[in-house]
Amino acid sequence: MKSTIEIFPDLSEISRVAAEKFISIGNRACKQNGKFTVALAGGSTPKSLYRLLTTDNFKKQINWSKVFFFFGDERNVLPVAEDSNFRMANENLLKPLQISENQIFRWQTQIGDAVKIAEDYEERIKDFFRLRRNSSASAAGDSDLLLPRFDLVLLGMGDDGHTASLFPFTDALRERKKIAVANCVEKLNTVRLTLTFSAINNASNIMFLINGEEKAEVLRAVLEGEFKPEEFPSQNIKPANGNLFWLLDEKAAQKLK
Ligand code: 6PG
Repeated sequence: MKSTIEIFPDLSEISRVAAEKFISIGNRACKQNGKFTVALAGGSTPKSLYRLLTTDNFKKQINWSKVFFFFGDERNVLPVAEDSNFRMANENLLKPLQISENQIFRWQTQIGDAVKIAEDYEERIKDFFRLRRNSSASAAGDSDLLLPRFDLVLLGMGDDGHTASLFPFTDALRERKKIAVANCVEKLNTVRLTLTFSAINNASNIMFLINGEEKAEVLRAVLEGEFKPEEFPSQNIKPANGNLFWLLDEKAAQKLK
């Protein structure tokens, strides 16, 4: 794993560099595999990156018909809800770029039941990445985990050290076999939907976008503190065979050595 930390004056600089990395990773993936698979982050930080990618300067730099969009996590709400991660990405990126439906893989939250939504999403990912055991493999008791390898996973980090919807002291932190799960988050009194560490850490590239002084203390704990991944789940983001980029602004990085 190659991990790099880059610190910028502000969010717009983070977004510019993130957009450049998005395009270069994407074009490399299209060249090598004929497509680019990216898992988008929710929350507010990535919004300016998404909008930047739709501007003339960036949008003409990649063949969007080869880009396939997934979501690292989702709230258990309908896609039109205010707090839907799909809605934020759709309004700021997918709709402006006129991305076609068959290139967008959103969590089918209209199903209602969180466990069923997660199972459905796992099947969609397995179908797309062709992660089916063939009969001989299963007959041979092939125990290899079948995981998607996203070309890029975008992540944010909460001020409690969570990422995606992998919150401190929640069951999803210990899930190693599944790709997508429903995760009960007591402190939010809700069930969230999230990719697991196994699925995220199998990516070729992972990019954290973190800004604001409210993240400074937890970022210090995550990057420089004791390894306590139950308390600081972002510490468990370690691509087994990929690049990890931390794009930070000065305010979020102010407590780092
Ligand atoms: C979500 C995100 C979550 C987010 C962090 C940071 O569903 O909210 O996936 O993991 O990235 O909470 O959120 P901000 O970018 O709004 O600070």
